[in-house]
Amino acid sequence: MARQVNAVTERLRRSKVNSPVDRRRDIERPPGPRAADLPYRFATSGDICGYFVAVEREYEQIAHTRMLRDHLYILNDPEFVVEFFLNHSRGNMKGRALQGAKAVLGTGLLTSDGDFHLRQRRLVQPAFHRDRVVSYAQTMAAITQRHEQRWKEGATFDMVEDMSALTLAIVGETLFGADLTSDAAEMNTALTEVLTGSGARLMMGGGILRLPTPARRRSVESSATLDAIVQRMVDDHRRIGDTGDMLSMLIAAQEDGEGMSDEQVRDEAMTLVLAGHETTAMAMSWTWMLLARNPQVAEWLHEELDSELAGRAPGFEDLGALPRTHAVIAESMRMYPPAWSMGRRVLKDLTLGKWLVPRGAMVLSSQYALQRSPRWWDSPLAFRPRRWIGADGAFSETNPGQPRGAWFPFGWGNRRCIGEQFAWTEAQLILATLAQRWEPQLQQGHAVEPQPAVTLRPKGGLPVTLRRRSGG
Ligand code: HEM
Repeated sequence: MARQVNAVTERLRRSKVNSPVDRRRDIERPPGPRAADLPYRFATSGDICGYFVAVEREYEQIAHTRMLRDHLYILNDPEFVVEFFLNHSRGNMKGRALQGAKAVLGTGLLTSDGDFHLRQRRLVQPAFHRDRVVSYAQTMAAITQRHEQRWKEGATFDMVEDMSALTLAIVGETLFGADLTSDAAEMNTALTEVLTGSGARLMMGGGILRLPTPARRRSVESSATLDAIVQRMVDDHRRIGDTGDMLSMLIAAQEDGEGMSDEQVRDEAMTLVLAGHETTAMAMSWTWMLLARNPQVAEWLHEELDSELAGRAPGFEDLGALPRTHAVIAESMRMYPPAWSMGRRVLKDLTLGKWLVPRGAMVLSSQYALQRSPRWWDSPLAFRPRRWIGADGAFSETNPGQPRGAWFPFGWGNRRCIGEQFAWTEAQLILATLAQRWEPQLQQGHAVEPQPAVTLRPKGGLPVTLRRRSGG
């Protein structure tokens, strides 16, 4: 473990990137909230989601504020969101939070930029082609059925932990041919520490992890635990040889002399393990919470599952006939987007509307705020999956009638989530399998509160009691 702690400490040291800083004094900036508000909320674990919602209400197009030394532009106009993240995607780099996350993830797909990112993306892309996702579906369904064996009437547990164990097993087996089941508890504890400890303040930049505090020590140790698990997976894989999966492709690329170092293989593997299970686990956890709170929606979903599947296990070919299942997940991700905000640092001056956004400035847009805006969504605080179903009974992401930039749970452009199809398939198969027979109930007295760390997590977990559906 000492070797891993040293490696993490070294990564932390190197995670400091030289990025341009916006020091322009000669330009007009859009109006916005007081400079101290946001850093104060980050420092005190205040209501950050509430902050972005309030800013979206008050400044309908764009707001300017300060985030420590940085000028921060918050985009609230869906047209600006599309223009910036889609049309200007090459003129910016990842923002503070993901630069900070390099301390844990290293330089993988999520955190890298420019030509290096493009090369890695091309390398990893084939593992996410539709045909591959169809072939993963069988494994996803089989792992979910195996997982269901552990669900017992009256059992009480933390749904976040349970869903994380399930999605970790799925990503491990589909992409890496690895059984990570026995690592789930250790991984969850380490990841919770990394994400909700100092990680909750990563938006302030990687510097937060370089301060010698007890929280930093815990984060480093947890990150070292994650390293050890992923390194073992890579080492095992090298021993077994090429199995045609994702990790085989990464190792082969290294051996073909494309220049991937051991560390880069590790960084990509770590990125895919973490990005590939944490987000879907959060989407599923919030979905169970919303179904428990909205029994009439749960009943509407059960009708579909009972009539289409009648108790049998779902497969990829069933998904088209399960629009309600799709809609429940979309509506859950609208209200509780696992990726709740996206930030970038601008590398070239650009204009949005009448505003110059200079090189070095930070730009941020919050899915949480835009996907709850009354400007674009009817009754935005109501859990209404029906809004995604058209008159023809089919699911479509355009059915609610929102403008393009008001719905972006998987991001935009060249940095759009590579695992989007994987995630939709996985989430639908998990929900269709488990909701056929189970109605998890929220434990009384536990206030559910969103905690915006790198992902949007339920603060303190989501304690549930399992109930078998009558007739299910
Ligand atoms: C509900 C589930 C998921 C959500 C909401 C989600 C969301 C996102 C978002 C918003 C981004 C863009 C971040 C940015 O632009 O700063 C992203 C990127 C990424 N996601 Fe996902 N994701 C999910 C599932 C997955 C899965 C299952 C995988 C892999 C198995 C994955 C792997 C990645 C990777 C590697 C990137 C970086 C892509 C790049 O920059 O080229 N994600 N995800």
